[in-house]
This record gives sequence, C-alpha cells and structure tokens, in this order.
Amino acid sequence: MIRLDQVSKQYNPGRANGLFVLRDVSLAFAENRFTCLLGPSGCGKTTLLNLIAGFIAPTSGRVLLQNVPIDKPGPDRGVVFQDATLFPWMTVLDNVRFGLSQQGLDQEHCTAVAQEYLDLVGMLPHAAAWPISLSGGMRQRVAIARILALQPKVMLMDEPFSALDAKSRERLQDELLRICENRPVTVIYITHNVEEAAFLAERVIVMGPAPDTIHADMQLPSRRPRLRLSPEFADTTAMLRAELDTLPCCIAASKQREDGL
Ligand SMILES: Nc1ncnc2c1ncn2[C@@H]1O[C@H](COP(=O)(O)OP(=O)(O)OP(=O)(O)O)[C@@H](O)[C@H]1O
Ligand SMILES: [Mg+2]
Repeated sequence: MIRLDQVSKQYNPGRANGLFVLRDVSLAFAENRFTCLLGPSGCGKTTLLNLIAGFIAPTSGRVLLQNVPIDKPGPDRGVVFQDATLFPWMTVLDNVRFGLSQQGLDQEHCTAVAQEYLDLVGMLPHAAAWPISLSGGMRQRVAIARILALQPKVMLMDEPFSALDAKSRERLQDELLRICENRPVTVIYITHNVEEAAFLAERVIVMGPAPDTIHADMQLPSRRPRLRLSPEFADTTAMLRAELDTLPCCIAASKQREDGL
C-alpha cells in the first residue's frame, strides 16, 4: 500500500545546521494494517508521517502510495494531529460537512454522512455546538469524524490522543479500534506511549536517531486479546519498553555532526 524506498530526509541541506533525520529508510505498510511508530523525541517520526502525507518531499528516495509517487497531500490520506484544529467559526456538524461538500456531494447527503460519523465517535448530540465550547477530547473526536467521513484509505495520526486524560484516551483508543474493525483503513499512528502502542498496534516500528532510523520492526499477534489488564498486554508492553530502553535519548543535530554522520 505505502512504500518508502531508500528514503532520506535532510532539513536545510548544504547549511551548517543541515541535519539528516531519516537516512536510507526502506519500509512497506500493508493495506488495512495498524502500525504504531514509537521512538524518542526528535528521531523523525513526524517527518516520516509528513513525507507520507505529502506535506514535505524526501531529499532522496521515493515514497509511493499504491506504486504511485506521493508528491502532494490528497484525500486518500487523512491526517490527525495532536491538537485538533477545527474551524472555530463552524459548528461541529459543519466542520465534518465541510470536506464532504468540497467533494461536490449534495447538501443532504453531506449532512447525513456527517451525522453518521459524528454518531460513530459519540459526538452527534453535540452537532450544533461550536468548537470553543468543547473539551480537548471532544474536539479530537470531531477531528477524527471529519477525517473518517472522507473515507481515506490511509489515516496518519500524530500523537492524536496525547493531550487527553487517561480515561478519555482509553475510550478513544477503544473507539478507534472499533472503527478500524468496521471499515478497512490503513493506519500509521505515532505515539510516545508504550501502552497505547501495545493496545492498538498490529505492528510496532521503533525508530531511533539516524542512522539507526528503523531500530526494530515488530509484528504483534493481531488476534491477541485487547485487554489492558491481561498478562499478554503486560508482556507486550514490557517487550516494547525493553526495545526503547536500548535507544539513546535522541541525539541532536550537534551530535550527528560531531560523529560526522
Ligand atoms: N521543518 C524543519 N526544519 C528543520 N528541522 C526540522 C524541521 N522539522 C523537524 N526538524 C528537525 O528534525 C528532527 C526530527 O523532527 P520530528 O518532528 O520528525 O521528530 P519526532 O520524532 O516527531 O519528535 P517528537 O516525538 O518530539 O514529536 C528534529 O531534530 C527537528 O528539530
Ligand atoms: Mg513528532
């Protein structure tokens, strides 16, 4: 579905502060699989996601979606960031309707689809509310409904629940899994939270600072019980934590330069 072929990304090439964030990364993401990216701050997770989203271009190598090079953002890839940015001047319903109406669908159909997805994330009772009146978790639900309503083949999620309290986060994780079970979608999900990765992912990629960009690539049993208090969950969490423990805190640009990388 998505393939990175020898992808490197250097910010500010040719400048003294030029930094290789990704170096020769080759990765494939299979269709309808849920992959989590874990790794220390600054190791390039968001950079990788932005390349797939088409927001930035690789310095070398290719990023392909269904064998076609990605050169710009597209409706086939929905992106959810850490802080949901809703249009503050639109109601919840209109926020979700907006993307649909841009696709030229008729108004009634847009409303029906928007309501369906708001219902899915438990926000239909708040359809007429303004974003400012919502909590962070509620805004995040609307942002997810807005992306889902467009039915992207790929969802790119960058720490989408990290600003939420533990209970809301778990509820949204449950909802996200339920949504993924009901509708085929390929998810690439960045998190710093080992428990979140253990709970959500079918595959976990642990990233480290370049040049050890892909430090580990682990398949988790996809039919495992998704119970947060089960021994399997504790084992998975411990395994991921052990992988992370082998990484240094992210070396910054200065260290890369010192090492001549
Ligand atoms: N637009 C940019 N211009 C220059 N450097 C950048 C740019 N974006 C990111 N970087 C640098 O690239 C490195 C990786 O950044 P990135 O945001 O991909 O890391 P991350 O793994 O997502 O970190 P975090 O977990 O803190 O979100 C960092 O050193 C960052 O300063
Ligand atoms: Mg990031």
